[in-house]
Amino acid sequence: MPAAGGGAGGWRPLVGGNWKMHTTREEARALLGELRSELDGLAGIEIVIFPPAPWLADAHDLLAGSTLRVGAQHAHWERSGAFTGAVSAHQIAGIVDHVLVGHSERRQLFHECDRATSRLLAAALEAGLSPLLAVGETAPERDRGETEAVIRRQLLAAVDGLERLDGRVAVAYEPVWAIGAGESAAPSEAEQGCAAVRRIVSERFGAATAAGVRVLYGGSVGAGNARDLASLPSVDGALVGGASLRAAEFAGICREVAATGGG
Ligand code: PGA
Repeated sequence: MPAAGGGAGGWRPLVGGNWKMHTTREEARALLGELRSELDGLAGIEIVIFPPAPWLADAHDLLAGSTLRVGAQHAHWERSGAFTGAVSAHQIAGIVDHVLVGHSERRQLFHECDRATSRLLAAALEAGLSPLLAVGETAPERDRGETEAVIRRQLLAAVDGLERLDGRVAVAYEPVWAIGAGESAAPSEAEQGCAAVRRIVSERFGAATAAGVRVLYGGSVGAGNARDLASLPSVDGALVGGASLRAAEFAGICREVAATGGG
């Protein structure tokens, strides 16, 4: 866990709820209301909700004045232009605080390359957003013993060109084989992956930066395993997919993580 007081408001563990392409507008509005009443004011944690793009403005309005933050699941790095269907980081900067970068579904299903992650990460920072970079290996890569090499390649590519790592950047280690699988990585594997992230950040940007960066685990996190995972020494929170669509379970995860103080 990073040293306390690293950020402007003091260091806190982070939990993200990635809704992916789920919810109708009505469902989204109802879920946002439930999350606000369950979680607003929960101390010792930063909570970010990542709804589908068309509901971002609703989320901004419905969570205004609460301690919950809103993030986009993706954005385009160009400020504006002829990019049909795309939404730029600069366009959403007044509506969201955070943006996911390089989620494995973007990499696998939409063929986003490492270069795309570095462009979005830089654009997000320039737009005043906090990027949450996702890295992690597939099952075949794990079987070949390439876990750390994949984390290294994805992480170093995403920060390519940066002289320093802004304190707004957080990294989620998400083994692709654990996403939506119903079973998370074993604590030892989650710890190894998150420790590798911090080690690579240290090699690239120095120990002080590495001590302050928040490293999350993601992949089948639920109310039943959140405490064990968030208690691991290298884990500073969780990126939650499926369970973030259930208000009571997501609230339970946030409370468990808040109680650990982040590793
Ligand atoms: P999951 O998704 O919690 O449903 O495994 C995690 C993610 O994709 O970030």
